[in-house]
Amino acid sequence: MKVITTVSQLKNELNGFREKGKSIGLVPTMGALHEGHASLVKRSVEENDVTVVSIFVNPTQFNDKNDLKNYPRNLEADCELLRAVGATIAFAPEVEEMYPEPDTRQFHFAPLDTVMEGACRPGHFNGVAQIVSKLFYAAEPDKAYFGEKDFQQLAIIREMVRRLGLSLQIIGCPIVRESDGLALSSRNMLLTAEERTRALAISRTLFESLNVAKNSSLHDTRAFVEKQINKVDGFRLEYYRIVDGNTLQEVEEWSDSDYIVGCIALFCGNIRLIDNIKYKEVK
Ligand code: PAJ
Repeated sequence: MKVITTVSQLKNELNGFREKGKSIGLVPTMGALHEGHASLVKRSVEENDVTVVSIFVNPTQFNDKNDLKNYPRNLEADCELLRAVGATIAFAPEVEEMYPEPDTRQFHFAPLDTVMEGACRPGHFNGVAQIVSKLFYAAEPDKAYFGEKDFQQLAIIREMVRRLGLSLQIIGCPIVRESDGLALSSRNMLLTAEERTRALAISRTLFESLNVAKNSSLHDTRAFVEKQINKVDGFRLEYYRIVDGNTLQEVEEWSDSDYIVGCIALFCGNIRLIDNIKYKEVK
């Protein structure tokens, strides 16, 4: 596996592969890699000749300076994991390489980006769109892989690709969880042992709510989740929204859509965690 730090080197390397007719998969990440990221990389390795994994803690998507400062970074361990799963290139640029000048582009994806994470983290999705579009222009992949863990991000990336008229395919991958249910996240390593135990209530409540939903209205199911979460000491719920999986707008009745997802964001101590669960999905 090659570790590359500049866009020009990356373009050179990938042009060589493209000339030989090789297909290219891209997996954008912010590093501190875990099995959730690995699942995306493995899928790309299966489906493409060449897999590029970007590792870049993107400053423009952090609306909280402390979150950016404390975000875990560990390039060596990341490269070890990537070698083990068969990535071809790790692209790990410095901030100056991706932002030689400030990116003044403003993306608007309303109403997708005005709800949930978009409402709680002003500017977040603008920063995500800035970096992901730069990565798409740099790598020109055939396919790019994103996790359903960041459900709203995935919907917004699909919309960005549509609006920019890019020809790559976006592949959404299922959430990978610890054996006890907690969704894997780079931020989990910032939890104390006690917080880690408490955090279990998130996935447990979401899974329990699947049963509640069988015999209850959407409104009562949402109320169940909010009540269970608000009971936990040290949790501060930001939102629980039950939305249409395509439009991300809230639905009122189970019959309103055939794709319905519950999305949660909360602070566990000082660490902000998100998760989601599908109540209904079109296949
Ligand atoms: P990051 O949080 O590092 O996540 C990189 C990718 O891994 C995202 O597509 C995310 O949804 C996926 N992922 C994270 N945890 C997962 C899990 N438990 N199961 C499945 N997939 C999981 O998301 C970002 O970085 C950034 O916003 C980025 C897109 C790289 C732009 O900076």
